[in-house]
Amino acid sequence: MIAIADPKTKLDAQRIPLTPNYPPFKKWKRSAVEEKLQDRSICLYIHIPFCTQRCSFCYYKTVDLKERPEVNPYVDALCKEIKLVSDRFDLENRPIHAIYFGGGTPSLLQEHHFEKIFGVLRDTFKQFDNRKQLALEAEPLTISRSKLDVLAQLGVTRLSMGIQSFVEDIIKLSGRGHNQKQAYRAIEMAQQAGQGKWTINLDLLSGLAGETDETWQESVRCAIKTGVESITVYQMEAFTNTDFYKQGVRDDKINLPDAEQEKGFMQYAMGELSRNNYIPWSFFTYTKNNSDRSEYIYNIWQGMEFYGLGVSAFGSMDRFLLQNTSDLDKYGEIVEAGELPLVRGYKFTAQDLMVRDVLLGMKILRFDLNKFKAQYGFKLESLCAEPLGQLESEGFITISNGEIVLTDKGILHGDFVGHTVSEYLRKLHN
Ligand SMILES: C[S@@+](CC[C@H](N)C(=O)[O-])C[C@H]1O[C@@H](n2cnc3c(N)ncnc32)[C@H](O)[C@@H]1O
Ligand code: SF4
Repeated sequence: MIAIADPKTKLDAQRIPLTPNYPPFKKWKRSAVEEKLQDRSICLYIHIPFCTQRCSFCYYKTVDLKERPEVNPYVDALCKEIKLVSDRFDLENRPIHAIYFGGGTPSLLQEHHFEKIFGVLRDTFKQFDNRKQLALEAEPLTISRSKLDVLAQLGVTRLSMGIQSFVEDIIKLSGRGHNQKQAYRAIEMAQQAGQGKWTINLDLLSGLAGETDETWQESVRCAIKTGVESITVYQMEAFTNTDFYKQGVRDDKINLPDAEQEKGFMQYAMGELSRNNYIPWSFFTYTKNNSDRSEYIYNIWQGMEFYGLGVSAFGSMDRFLLQNTSDLDKYGEIVEAGELPLVRGYKFTAQDLMVRDVLLGMKILRFDLNKFKAQYGFKLESLCAEPLGQLESEGFITISNGEIVLTDKGILHGDFVGHTVSEYLRKLHN
């Protein structure tokens, strides 16, 4: 049976004003035109998958240089991909905010590889020279003074060195090739070569096999003593694809610190770093000045577009996540044929974008509520009043002056605040 609407409740079409646009013209502003005409900045990520070793803790998918020494063809393919991507996505004139060489081990490339890649970047992107930062990950045994001099001259402004531990026995157990002396030597060399040209970040990894309070405290103190501008403290996670998982979690053959010890390590690092004037700008990175932070990471966590170049690299463009093939052979073949090596992606819904911005935005410890409102038209503090109220009363955050700020407790618990709020947001209306 067809239901017939009651004439009294029917909408009166005559009385609804004609609306040619939404929102109405009176809300339109000149500033929006200016914003749209401005070329939006973008970051580039460049992936170098090769490594000279396989560390027992590492979960990254890397390519063993001894088994596959094909660096030359990879660099050629990378250079070709840079051109293909710039043409396809019209990036030639876009301002480049930051470039990040990650891996694997980018520092194992030779001088001529860097010269070639930088030459192509400069030829391709008209605004390459105006970038704010160019960062490169480095491993102690793969750098030399001459290589560092070339990198400094090419314009690297942030060198991030994987040190992990300064304690001989812990380094050995982790399957790294270097020793304590070589780590110090590499840092000193980087400091001399980069004076006034780059800032140095050291990666430390807490919770390695055999780690005790004493060994961890020594590592933190040694890192501080080097005087570097930035120190990153990661908590080691024993993913199933690591040797530490097999030996420590599955077979119980090596001793991995438990969650309680890990928390103690982090607390110690936090205290010692702040006593020595290092300030956190993310859960894990502490810098002497705000200008020493990673421009690439800081900005992509706030939604800046970034493109991932190289095998398995991924990026975020407009409303899409895009990823290249993880197969080294296929990567070379596809690029050689003049095609983009992209194999999968994801299109964000409006809700995804909000969830992403909350989850990633909280990683930089301060969340701008006014920016969120301007972006999405909703007040996060109203949408998520319940979890935010609880997090505040339990001392994880403070909310004032249009900002959510993580407290020391919030920082210590890493992604907890971001996860709690973003999960609540994700489940709303689902
Ligand atoms: C891709 S690596 C690049 C650095 C360079 N290959 C090296 O090892 O010196 C970046 C950082 O990831 C961190 N990392 C590796 N495996 C990890 C794990 N299982 N849990 C947390 N961080 C990890 C390490 O601190 C490492 O320095
Ligand atoms: S930690 Fe660095 S050097 Fe070791 S396997 Fe992972 S990416 Fe390679």
